[in-house]
Amino acid sequence: MGLRNDFLWGGAIAANQVEGAWNVDGKGPSVADVATYKPEVDVKDYSKQVGVTSDSINEALKTDDVKYYPKRRGIDFYHRYPEDMKLFGELGFKTLRISIAWTRIFPNGEEESPNQKGLDYYKAVFKEMHKNNIEPLVTLSHYEMPLNLAVKYNGWADRKIINLFRKFCDVCFKKFKDDVKYWLTFNEIDSVTRHPFTSAGIIPDKSDNLLQDEYQAFHNQFVASALVTKDCHEIIPNSMMGCMLTKLTDYPNSSDPRDVLASFNKNTMNYFPADVQVFGEYPKLVLDFFKKNGLTIKMEPEDLNILKENTVDFVSFSYYMSMVSSYDENNLTLTAGNTIVGGKNPYLKSTDWGWTVDPVGLRISLLQLYDRYQKPLFIVENGMGAKDSLTEDKKIHDNYRIEYFKEHFREMIKAVDSGVDLLGYTSWAPIDLVSASTSQMSKRYGFIYVDEDDLGQGTFNRYKKDSFYWYQHVIATNGAEL
Ligand code: BG6
Repeated sequence: MGLRNDFLWGGAIAANQVEGAWNVDGKGPSVADVATYKPEVDVKDYSKQVGVTSDSINEALKTDDVKYYPKRRGIDFYHRYPEDMKLFGELGFKTLRISIAWTRIFPNGEEESPNQKGLDYYKAVFKEMHKNNIEPLVTLSHYEMPLNLAVKYNGWADRKIINLFRKFCDVCFKKFKDDVKYWLTFNEIDSVTRHPFTSAGIIPDKSDNLLQDEYQAFHNQFVASALVTKDCHEIIPNSMMGCMLTKLTDYPNSSDPRDVLASFNKNTMNYFPADVQVFGEYPKLVLDFFKKNGLTIKMEPEDLNILKENTVDFVSFSYYMSMVSSYDENNLTLTAGNTIVGGKNPYLKSTDWGWTVDPVGLRISLLQLYDRYQKPLFIVENGMGAKDSLTEDKKIHDNYRIEYFKEHFREMIKAVDSGVDLLGYTSWAPIDLVSASTSQMSKRYGFIYVDEDDLGQGTFNRYKKDSFYWYQHVIATNGAEL
């Protein structure tokens, strides 16, 4: 069988991790622009973002520094995108997932009319993509909401954000309707409870009840997602709107039924945002969770109808690693994962950053998601952060990366052979970029090396790694030759 003929091979990036030019051409500051460089971060410390306070945000706003606020400089994609797009074209990309920075279009999120320079920029980016025969896949919100909305309203905890976001999206749909067919609403929507500031603009010290605000933010995002799905279908008739979930595949630590139950509960809470976006209603078990935790979600009378009537067309997800759960945390060896800390599986190897490498877990994830949702799937992030070294003759021999992808692709194809309807695969990330969690450059994901170190020093020149040529061949043979 193998992959469909029109399988969308490609890569995924996010505006705040590549563009730089954080205060250029009218762009306003976003939550990403106050994220600091955290090389020694212990993931336990960024759970709930304890380091993000009203004071730390004020401090950040007093400086133009781009050294310790690396997302402000990114990899200078803002200026270098034609060169990068050419490289993606050379790789044979059918698609590229990018995000639109809300703050380039509405710098503080509340302006009456959009910033023309921001619109022109993305128009030019899409033109360049099409020139290279690359179909855009666009995330409307990838960890970069206007900082003003976080400071003024505590982000998505406030219902007002729904209309502001809707306005931003509608401007994008109208402006880019001839350029973009595939859209995603919120990147890793389930991450609100892991990093409420990055994900939903919630500043923990402004919340009297953080958990309550987080689940309110979820609800507001669900309604926003449904409304913009409706708008997108109306404005762009053949468009496809997807939700985007971090697939945090969890296994029981043992066959002890208590471990099995702990793992079931973890997976249930991980699925929940996609459940709402796909089925158009809250899962009963989650309503019970609200009750047991004393959470009261404020809803308008029409909300449940809006959710029911405007579900997504496909389910996209990121997959990096799996973890194990136990009824008793003392039974576990903890390890880092994608913005999460959890039990380490002794059967698996880990990356330099402690994330377990579990290709079979990707197959399991595809089967679970397809079985649950019966909707087309799209893998929109998968990859490994590794330390690369540039040789004197400007080569990068990254066999470890090739091995990682090869094993994941084998399992992905097996899942497709079992009947999973998979639209495409975009690696995270095809080019080195600033890490979301630690803001490091040295945690490299790309097939393309960027000569820039953690403090922003270097030529910013791009070099092809060994994996570049390997991925190019995989795409050319549609996965038949790995
Ligand atoms: C995902 C995010 O959580 O993981 C990306 O959607 C992020 O933005 C990626 O970059 C990898 O995480 P990190 O922290 O290694 O950059």
